[in-house]
Order: sequence, then C-alpha cells, then structure tokens
Amino acid sequence: MVSKNATRRSFLQFLGLVAGGSLLGCPPGNGGKGENGGGENGENGENGGGTTVLVRGDVMGSGAGALDSYRKAIDAMKALAASDPRSWQAQAEIHNNHCPHGNAFFLPWHRAYLRYFEQVIQAMSEDSGFALPYWNWTTQRTLPPAFWEGTLDDPTRVIGPTDEMPASAVGQPVIDGILATADFQTFGSVFVPSTCTVNCQRRGMGYGSLEGTPHNIVHGTIGGNMGTFMSPLDPIFWLHHCNVDRLWMEWNKTFANPGGTADSDYWQNFDFADNFVDGEGNPVTSVIVNTLFDTFALGYRYDTQPEGTLEAAEPEPKAANVVASHEVEVSGAAPEMGAALTIPLELPAAVRERLEPGLQAEGAETTVRLSLTGIDTPSDAVVVHLFVGGEAASATPEGDNFVRSFGFFPAVASEDPHAEDKVFLFDVGARLAEAAGTGALRVHLRTEPLRPGVEAAGAGIRPESVLIEVIEHAA
Ligand code: C2O
Repeated sequence: MVSKNATRRSFLQFLGLVAGGSLLGCPPGNGGKGENGGGENGENGENGGGTTVLVRGDVMGSGAGALDSYRKAIDAMKALAASDPRSWQAQAEIHNNHCPHGNAFFLPWHRAYLRYFEQVIQAMSEDSGFALPYWNWTTQRTLPPAFWEGTLDDPTRVIGPTDEMPASAVGQPVIDGILATADFQTFGSVFVPSTCTVNCQRRGMGYGSLEGTPHNIVHGTIGGNMGTFMSPLDPIFWLHHCNVDRLWMEWNKTFANPGGTADSDYWQNFDFADNFVDGEGNPVTSVIVNTLFDTFALGYRYDTQPEGTLEAAEPEPKAANVVASHEVEVSGAAPEMGAALTIPLELPAAVRERLEPGLQAEGAETTVRLSLTGIDTPSDAVVVHLFVGGEAASATPEGDNFVRSFGFFPAVASEDPHAEDKVFLFDVGARLAEAAGTGALRVHLRTEPLRPGVEAAGAGIRPESVLIEVIEHAA
C-alpha cells in the first residue's frame, strides 16, 4: 500500500496546490489567508494553521447560503459555448464519457468529479469560498424547494415538488445498515480485477448497497435527465452525489478503505487520466484513486465530520476472507411485475455455524453477503425489494423479513453502453442469522414500478443465482 504521506503529497500536487502555496506554502500558525480569504462565502471555509478547508453543509441548513453562488455560476456556465470545457453541457459530458458505475471506481471517481466541479463553480461565480452543499435525502425527503425555481429547476424531472424519495431507499434504518457494512465491496461496489486490460474504468462488476440502493433509486425516482448518464445537467445531481460522498466519509469513520490484495491495490493505484478539467478549464492529466481518500487533503470536509484529519481517525485496513459460501442457481420464468419470486435456499452446516455469534476469531468482524447475479437492466424504471425468510405474501418493505431495495441507473437499458448482466451485493448478516434456523429458508424478490401508481413495462427481474458468503475481516 502507498504510504499516507506519499498519498497526501501526490494528491496536493494533483490539485496544483503545492506549487500555488495555498495549502502547504503557509507555515502552520501564521494565520495566513487561505484560498478563500477573499470569498463572499467565508463562513463556509475554515482557516486553521494556514490551511483552508472548505466546509460542505446541508442545503437545508448551513449549506443554503452557497446557493447564490451556485446559481450565478450555473447561469455563467450555460452562457458558455458547449465546446468550452467549463460549460454546463461539457461538465455533464465528462460524466457521460467517463463515469464508472457498478464497480469500486464509483466512489473515488465521483469524489474527484465533484471536487473539480466545485473549483469550476468557484471560478465561474467568483466566490473562492464556495463549498458544494449536500442534499441529505434521509432528512429532506422531497427535493429541496429551491430546486423547483429558476436556474436550479430541471423541467425534464418526472417527480413533482411533493413527491418523496422512498423510505425503503433513504430511510435512516437503511442508511444505518449500509454504514454498518464491514466489507468494502458490499458497501461501495466491486473491484475491477487487476488483470483487466479493456474498458477497465467502466467495467460492470457489481453494485454495493450505497450505489445500488440510495444512489440508484434517487436517480430513478427523480427521472428525466437524472435517469440518464447526462444526469449532471440537473443541478440536483451534484448535491445528490455530495451526499453519497459524505456517506463514504461517514463509513470511513468506522472502516478503512481496503488495500493489500492485487485487486484492491490495482484499485488504489488506478489513474483517472484526462477525465476532468480544473477551475480554469485546463485538463487534469492524472488523478490516482489513493489520493482521494482524505477529504482534508483535498481541501474540504463535511459539517458532519470532526475538524482535524481523516487520516488520524481512519482505522487500519483489514483483510476480507471468504470463510464459507453457498450458491443456488435460479431457473424458470421471470415473475410478473409486482409478484414475488421465491427462491428456496438450503444452507449447508459450514455456512450455518459461521452465522452463530461467538464462533468468529478474536477481534474479527463478519459480513454475511448475499449476491444476486445475472440481472438484466429492466426495460422500465423499477425498484426490486429483497426479503430473507418469512412468507412471500407478507413480503413488503414494512415487513420483518425486508432486507433492502435496489434500483437501476441509468434507468433504461438501451442507454447503458456496457449492459452486461448486473450483480447486486447486500449485507444480510443479522437477518440471515435469524432466519437460518435448521438451514432451510426462502429468499423473496419483488419488482415494482419505481413510482407508485405508475405502470411499469416488462416482467419482474429474475437473477441467475443467489450466492451467500460469510466474510471474515481480521487485521
Ligand atoms: Cu455517475 Cu449518480 O451518477
């Protein structure tokens, strides 16, 4: 693994902040002006020890003040020729041409994308203290009202001002469950193998729950541009992703980003070369994934993050070893829209005994992962609910056997340039242990239209297999 100091340095060089002296150039404690010294939005920046750290706030709270500069910049960007790299159109094209989805590049790529976009907004609004606000859909379930007016509106949206993001995708218990997932890939999507040679950045591998559940379902629920790879045309896109980025930081309060295996090292050392442009519109030739782990080194933090550095707080990475597994092939016809598909599982003793508490190695954490493989992107905007145990008839998101919902982004298969069969991963630990009993249990899947009351075309989804893995994490 690359050392943290090397990480920090290459990262600053990457942002062009070393040469500019705005971060490292000021000796600690000189009270020197940081980057946002002259900003109109100075309350969003902190200036401790000569280093300015932007503070990203909740758009319904301390981040609301940033919307004036946001509007000003968007108007200026829309007035540029589409060919200008800082135009509103060109910023969305970056996403259309490069965005990784369904693999572990998802989180770091979007973090870098947001950070450079923030610099473009700073330049275009002439507010060097601008910090991108986040939309916390868990506490603000409808779109923030400001996004239905003027520059921040997007007339392509399918939802209206009173429509809420579903509790089964963004509710506090769902988010708490996702943040408690010890296994990185189950949380933040699956590594591209280190042996990859073609289309590696965008290779579809598998969706972890942060991407597959709140990320995908919020995109699909809003609809219009937000359901496509041109979603950054909708001004809410950036605040949606800011909240996803914040939740990665929240996960890092408990868990370390992985390294130490061929695939995780390949991930850490991957270069998003020539993907982005900086605040001046100049191409960014290199962004290495492991320079993106520490938000402070990138020049920002969230208001839900303590001051100081993440580096100091981040625990050591742990290995993830699969110690028991069981796979069941699923055959037969796809279920009808709205009907439950029930899949019987016969858990072998090797898996069952690993579910019992007290059998893990000293100090180890466990993730019990359920993966659904071979899922085709459905032809319409749908959501799928996963249940473990209990009866199909009682399988609703309010029921005891509900595990998680997941969705698809982009929402329509034909827009997906790499539409291979998809894999979705879930941490089912607590629920599976409860349901396992003698080893015979049932998994239910129910596909429904994403927006209640709207008919969805096509059948429900049927995976090719259900895979259960017990993963032990040890230092
Ligand atoms: Cu790359 Cu939420 O989109």
